[in-house]
Amino acid sequence: MQVNPKILKQKFEKSMPKYNDNALVQREMAEQLVRLLIKTCGATFSHILELGSGTGLLTEFIVRDLQFDRLTCNDLVEKSRVYLDKIVPVYDFIAGNSCKIKPAGATDLIISNAMFQWFSSLSAPLEHYSRLLEKNGILAFSTFSKNNFKEIRNSLGVSLNYLSVEEISAALEKDFKILEIVEFERILEFNTSLELLAHLKNTGVNSLDSKKMTFHDIREFCDNSNASSLTYAPVLVIAMKK
Ligand SMILES: C[S@@+](CC[C@H](N)C(=O)[O-])C[C@H]1O[C@@H](n2cnc3c(N)ncnc32)[C@H](O)[C@@H]1O
Repeated sequence: MQVNPKILKQKFEKSMPKYNDNALVQREMAEQLVRLLIKTCGATFSHILELGSGTGLLTEFIVRDLQFDRLTCNDLVEKSRVYLDKIVPVYDFIAGNSCKIKPAGATDLIISNAMFQWFSSLSAPLEHYSRLLEKNGILAFSTFSKNNFKEIRNSLGVSLNYLSVEEISAALEKDFKILEIVEFERILEFNTSLELLAHLKNTGVNSLDSKKMTFHDIREFCDNSNASSLTYAPVLVIAMKK
């Protein structure tokens, strides 16, 4: 399923004030991604480019745990700057689609948390990011694999086109050497399915489809007695430009 970037932008902008309190798994992914990066490649970079910076969950770990001379952040949503300003004193910001941006100067680390799942195919984005990286530059990202939100898919038949670890690895092969690829699962429990739906809304994830969920969809979902747990299936990747 292709997600319309305009709708995505609106949904994320709306979810921003409540995002940090709800994005528990995304925060854990950001911390683990930086930990895995340091274990694999060290903590020192010259120009870091962060894609899909949002409210800055990952930016906080970049600033806390990595050393760098320059940081450029990017998001579809311009308002991301309001959050980043509180986290990092000096940085450049590029608003717009990460697949089209052209930051000044080469970068030795492109890093991104919980954004790549919005791409229906990874080949064009990866080709673009490879062009922005210097030789042996590092691409570190997290995304979600097939089992993500399986409860929603089972009950509503709505899902992003999540890629399996094998599909992600195959897409990387052309321009990157995979240094680490790790997957895990987290299951969140909610008292009611309405609470679960609110969680999705507050993390901007109700843009699974370009149409709004109808009253009928919500009732159908709430009627499903198994629908109060939500499975996240994160994947972390550290890869080097060939
Ligand atoms: C789930 S949020 C993750 C935010 C942050 N990285 C974190 O660690 O919590 C995804 C973010 O990616 C942004 N985004 C989605 N697709 C994008 C694209 N093609 N280019 C730039 N930003 C994008 C959204 O606006 C949103 O802020």
